[in-house]
Amino acid sequence: MALTSSVSNRTRARDRVRRLGWRTAGTVARPLPVEPLSLLPGPVPLLPQVRAVLARPPQAHRWPEALDRLERVRQLLRARTGAGHVAVLTGSGTTANDVVAAQLALRPGPGLVLAAGEFGERLVDAARRTRLDVRVLRATEGSVVTGAQLAAALAERPAGWVWTVHCETSTGVLFDLAELLATCRAAGAELAVDAISSLGCAPVDLRGVLLATASSGKALAGFPGLAVVLARDAPQAGQDLPRSLDLHAYTSGDGVPYTLPTVLVGGLLAALEARPAADEPAALGRLAATGAWLRRELLGRGLEVVAREECAAPAVLSVRLPHGVTPVRVADLVAGDGFLLAASSGYLRDRGWVQVSLMGRPCQQNLRRLPAALADRAGVGARR
Ligand SMILES: Cc1ncc(COP(=O)(O)O)c(C=O)c1O
Repeated sequence: MALTSSVSNRTRARDRVRRLGWRTAGTVARPLPVEPLSLLPGPVPLLPQVRAVLARPPQAHRWPEALDRLERVRQLLRARTGAGHVAVLTGSGTTANDVVAAQLALRPGPGLVLAAGEFGERLVDAARRTRLDVRVLRATEGSVVTGAQLAAALAERPAGWVWTVHCETSTGVLFDLAELLATCRAAGAELAVDAISSLGCAPVDLRGVLLATASSGKALAGFPGLAVVLARDAPQAGQDLPRSLDLHAYTSGDGVPYTLPTVLVGGLLAALEARPAADEPAALGRLAATGAWLRRELLGRGLEVVAREECAAPAVLSVRLPHGVTPVRVADLVAGDGFLLAASSGYLRDRGWVQVSLMGRPCQQNLRRLPAALADRAGVGARR
């Protein structure tokens, strides 16, 4: 009797440590070498060749080798997006958007910002801080601004430029870039795009787009810390902008006006080279199929996905938890089940959402236990 109960206690304990990601050896629990699968919207899991670069000491940022690597990064990003010019500077996505705001300040306005969530509102805020003359066109939660809505707004009051996010990371919606660009062209407006959470996990065609932004640590799969600005035209010289925000400085000469972390540039190059352009359409297709599968599975288990289906982003899914359920608590429990979800950003906590990001391109097979785990931890019953 005593033996049975001690065996079942031991089995229960082993189950528990297994759920928490620990392995037992005899009676001693020690951590498993595998970490939970990161499904955060950056930083994404790094490929071994990217990690290897990061172990190297920094180089002088104007050494020929360092300049060559930067030039290769710029070349690959131009080829991948159709942009005419690429700037790589120290900073995060917000830095890149501030550089764009500074460029928009040089153009005839007024401007129109499209907002469908937290990151659209940050563009509104960046415009306000740069003292741009802007109006805002907002989408309802889980939707995007459509081409027809934009056309109506521009017909009512023309604008010199329109600024929008491509993937609104907070709600997990993807704007239709081609439709917005065609609408802007028809109305004689320029289009600027925050592609920070779409470049690397969705097709991004910037031909015709005035300015766009990305960052190294999201779906481009480099180490975080580099801001990327992509421009259609060569930026004008001699503008009266703060030095660090002057796009011309980063797109002229050798593209390195100030200190640049060469290790991060090397890491971004390794990440880009690991994904040959010819393989990208198929890889992004697989990612979109995995995103669509995950959405169906989550809905099938009674969870509520914030984005409407017709504009759902391929690689970001925000899930609205039942009233009173705490996002960080659910994310902690799901981490014990082997999946690292985002829940601690202020905008997720305030709205009671957790977020699953596929920016690290996980394979569907490795996600198969996630829908049940999330539904279970959120206390949501299956509908299937
Ligand atoms: C669409 C979008 N824009 C801007 C940002 C801000 O980027 P960062 O936090 O790197 O400054 C983020 C960050 O998640 C984002 O998803």
